[in-house]
Amino acid sequence: MDKSPILIIGKNAKTGSRVNQRLRNLGYATRPVSRSTNPSFDWEDPATWQSAIKGTGSAYVTYQPDLAVPRAEATINEFLQVAGENGLKHIVLLSGRGEEGAQRAEEALKASGISWNIVRASWFSQNFSESFMLEGILSGQLVFPAGDTVEPFVDADDIADVVVATLTEPGHRNRLYEVTGPRALSFAQCIQEISDALGRPVKYTSIPVNEYISALREEGVPEDMQWLLHELFTVVFDGRNSHVMPGVKEALGRPPTDFKAYVEKSIESGVWAGVMLKESA
Ligand SMILES: NC(=O)c1ccc[n+]([C@@H]2O[C@H](COP(=O)([O-])OP(=O)(O)OC[C@H]3O[C@@H](n4cnc5c(N)ncnc54)[C@H](OP(=O)(O)O)[C@@H]3O)[C@@H](O)[C@H]2O)c1
Repeated sequence: MDKSPILIIGKNAKTGSRVNQRLRNLGYATRPVSRSTNPSFDWEDPATWQSAIKGTGSAYVTYQPDLAVPRAEATINEFLQVAGENGLKHIVLLSGRGEEGAQRAEEALKASGISWNIVRASWFSQNFSESFMLEGILSGQLVFPAGDTVEPFVDADDIADVVVATLTEPGHRNRLYEVTGPRALSFAQCIQEISDALGRPVKYTSIPVNEYISALREEGVPEDMQWLLHELFTVVFDGRNSHVMPGVKEALGRPPTDFKAYVEKSIESGVWAGVMLKESA
C-alpha cells in the first residue's frame, strides 16, 4: 500500500468530507484541502496547487463551482499538468452527467497519462439537506425551476463509497462509474416524500427559469452562478439525465440507496428539525 497521503480537493464539500472520513476510518493518511486549509487549495489560484499536491500519491478531485462553467476546461488542463509534474499517480474525478464541460474534463483526464477513475454522478440527494435547497425546505416551500423533469438522485454516501473503493481496492483502475439512485423522481415527488416522512407540510412550487434567475439577480447572486444555474435548468435538466445507471452496483456489488432511506437518515440527523419546530411553534 502506498503510504503517501491521499489528496482530497473539497475538504468540507458534500462528498469530499465523506471520502475523507471513510479513508481515515480505514487507516489511510489524507490531505483534505480547500481555500480555508493549510496548505490551501483554490481553483482560482494555480499558485496554491503545487504545495497542496506535493508528497501525495493519489487524489479525489472535485471542481468548483461546476465543470459546466466555460473556464473549467482550461483550469482542469492546467491542473492535470501540475499534477503530473508533481508526481500524482492516480486521480479520481467527480464528474456530472450530460454536461459538455464535464465530458471535456473527463477526456482530458483520460488523455493525461495519469491513472484515472471517473465517478459521473446524478444530482445529489443531499442538495435537499446540505445545500441550496435546504433553506426553502425549512421555510416550508421550495420554489424551483425544475418543472416535471425526473432525476435519479444519488446519495452522497454512495458516491463516497464508490470513490473510496476506486482509491483503495484493486480492479477499478481506468474505469468510469456512472452513479445514480435506483428511482427517478421529480422535485415535487421528492418534496412530497420529505413532507410525508416529516409529517409536516412542505410545498414545491415550480416557476419558469427566467423568473428564478431574475430573483437571484435581485438577491445579488454573482453572475457566473446565475449563468451556471440557467445552464443547469435549461440544458442539463431537459430530461437527458432521467435514466437510472448501474455505477453503484458495478463498483460496490450492492444496490444504490433509495431516496426513502436518505430521507429517513436526514430526519434522524435533525437537519430538517426547523420545519417541525416552525410548525409546532
Ligand atoms: N451537487 C450535485 O448535485 C452534483 C452532482 C454532480 C456533480 N457535482 C459536482 O460536484 C462538485 C461540487 O461538489 P459538492 O456539491 O460536493 O461541493 P460543495 O459541497 O458545494 O463544496 C463546497 C466546498 O467547496 C470549497 N470551495 C469553494 N470554492 C472553491 C475554490 N475556488 N477552490 C477550492 N475549494 C473551493 C468550499 O470550501 P472553502 O470555503 O474552504 O474553500 C466549500 O466548503 C462540482 O464539481 C459539481 O459539478 C455536483
